[in-house]
Amino acid sequence: MLIGLGFGPQVFLPGTAGTDGPHNPMAAEKLIMTTCRKPLLPLPLRVLRCAMLAILLAGSVFSADARAAGPRKKKDDQTQKHLAWMRENQTGMWNISPREGLYLYDLVVKHHLKRGLEIGTSNGYSGIWIASGMRVTGGRLLTMEIDEERAQLARENLQAAGVERYVTLERVAALQAVPTLTGPYDFVFIDAEKSDYIRYLQMVLPLVPEGGVIVAHNVSDMADELHDFIVRVKTDPELKTTFAEPGPGGFSVSIKRGGQ
Ligand SMILES: C[S@@+](CC[C@H](N)C(=O)[O-])C[C@H]1O[C@@H](n2cnc3c(N)ncnc32)[C@H](O)[C@@H]1O
Repeated sequence: MLIGLGFGPQVFLPGTAGTDGPHNPMAAEKLIMTTCRKPLLPLPLRVLRCAMLAILLAGSVFSADARAAGPRKKKDDQTQKHLAWMRENQTGMWNISPREGLYLYDLVVKHHLKRGLEIGTSNGYSGIWIASGMRVTGGRLLTMEIDEERAQLARENLQAAGVERYVTLERVAALQAVPTLTGPYDFVFIDAEKSDYIRYLQMVLPLVPEGGVIVAHNVSDMADELHDFIVRVKTDPELKTTFAEPGPGGFSVSIKRGGQ
């Protein structure tokens, strides 16, 4: 019946059916509008066709929201539930958004990243997303937080989310601790004081192998404060940088080039 109406049973929008990123509600709306306006079919069939498409797209949008709620496998239920609980019950922690979390998770899984370093743990929200990816790749995350209270919350959250075995949490001042690391780290997530981003970048660059990924948060919503950092990642010959906006903060995503 669906085929008779002019479209098959699979209607996928970018990012809703695979792991390529967030779904696109604008594209859904556009597709519905274009389909509903098509004059070739008699009116009742057009209405029916339009209604069927809307139902299919609603399912697609719903699954995108479900994806943003947490990693998708059943065994990750505990993680999903705890991430949702944190959003409800631990506000004011400067956490990334669920869609940004999903983006990091996908990045880790897709690129098989295994040695993670996070600078700025807060209560562990982003760390849980990254660690969920590391659980898939067989990797491990080292995450650093300067504040004892937030570090303690992070410890509890990592445990409640069921990912503590994939994470080492250090209550340290990262500006002092990062230079003592030997690496390598194929995934680095920078999300601490914005004025320190360039220093962190300089510190981690020698620790990241060719093909490794350095992600920094807030390049969109704090673009002014991060102006020099943004220029640096765009122009550094060691890096190939793109920008992603799965949520309001925005990420720079820098891949370390080889042969430098
Ligand atoms: C934006 S929050 C991190 C949010 C976290 N990445 C998330 O999305 O769940 C920044 C955190 O970095 C920590 N921080 C700031 N300067 C630091 C430093 N020098 N060393 C370690 N942590 C630091 C702050 O205490 C704060 O908890």
